[in-house]
Amino acid sequence: ETDPQLKELFAGKFYVGAAMNRRQITGEDAQTIDLLQRHFNSITPENVMKSERIQPREGEFSFDLADAFVAFGEKNGLHIVGHTLIWHSQAPDWFFTDSQGREVSARVLKQRMETHIKTLVGRYKGRVHGWDVVNEAILDDGSYRKSKFYQILGEEFIHLAFQFAHEADPEAALYYNDYSMANPGKRKGVIAMVRALQEKGLRIDGIGMQGHIGMRYPSLEEFEKSIVSFADLGVTVMITELDLTVLPSPGNQAGAEISDTKAYRDALNPYTDGLPEEVSAAFTQRYLDFFRLFLKHADKISRVTTWGVTDRQSWKNNWPVRGRTDYPLLFGRDQLPKPIVHALRK
Ligand code: XIL
Repeated sequence: ETDPQLKELFAGKFYVGAAMNRRQITGEDAQTIDLLQRHFNSITPENVMKSERIQPREGEFSFDLADAFVAFGEKNGLHIVGHTLIWHSQAPDWFFTDSQGREVSARVLKQRMETHIKTLVGRYKGRVHGWDVVNEAILDDGSYRKSKFYQILGEEFIHLAFQFAHEADPEAALYYNDYSMANPGKRKGVIAMVRALQEKGLRIDGIGMQGHIGMRYPSLEEFEKSIVSFADLGVTVMITELDLTVLPSPGNQAGAEISDTKAYRDALNPYTDGLPEEVSAAFTQRYLDFFRLFLKHADKISRVTTWGVTDRQSWKNNWPVRGRTDYPLLFGRDQLPKPIVHALRK
């Protein structure tokens, strides 16, 4: 392949990243590693740095895969992103409970957050360039998610997370990351939360807009408003988990009473043998519209990361419904660049 690679297409504009899964980190999936090395200049771990993986039991840290991930990034000269320090999901139960199974006090939870964050960030000090410090703490209406962190500590848990991360590596860039960021309610809540951090003098460098998009939502207009208003806070904007699903959402299907039938499951999995021509064309156009938007705001956007490399490994095949065939990424199951990649080259 002599055509320009993605990283060359966007050179001087933003990093082009991908999430790495376990089989890529261990080297088992050599074909996909080759694509990663050719096209991307930034990496994020899809799962191996999440708290349930890093500290499955209190005080028992498991760093093998995270170490291999960081070593891969260094060997290939990539911009390395850590994901994620404090998130309500994929967090072990022990974090919030004592040995009798009772909910822990604010003091204990703070201590556990500090140990977790400082051990992880400290281990990769000067090597991981930026961290998703807090993930998904705000709901679509702009209020705080009533997670265990929030119930026990209130919004202070966010401030503490940024403070601990900064203390562990003063040079690392620190980010807030969330989904549905084009939603006006969430946009407002995130802006208020970031302002609160800034008023406290805490370091925050960027906002990650996850970018799990569909064929109709979000609208380009609302997405653009969020890019602009986040950048107005004086932080960088990143598209951190880009993928574009062509599959119907279960919520759009007829009611729950038929949810166990084969017909229902088939309706949610319509493209098992590849995309029809017109769907494929619409997919290319929709992706192109978003990349044009990113390029228009390249002065505000420092990184665009896709959540995976090829469709074969995408989490979207199993979310929000298991066992589907989805086509959300820039490279197909055949490892080849899709028409969208060729369109980006024009
Ligand atoms: C997903 C991974 O892709 C899956 O493999 C895992 O089973 C669940 O988590 N928001 C995030 C990511 O911030 O960490 C999630 O990744 C997708 C949604």
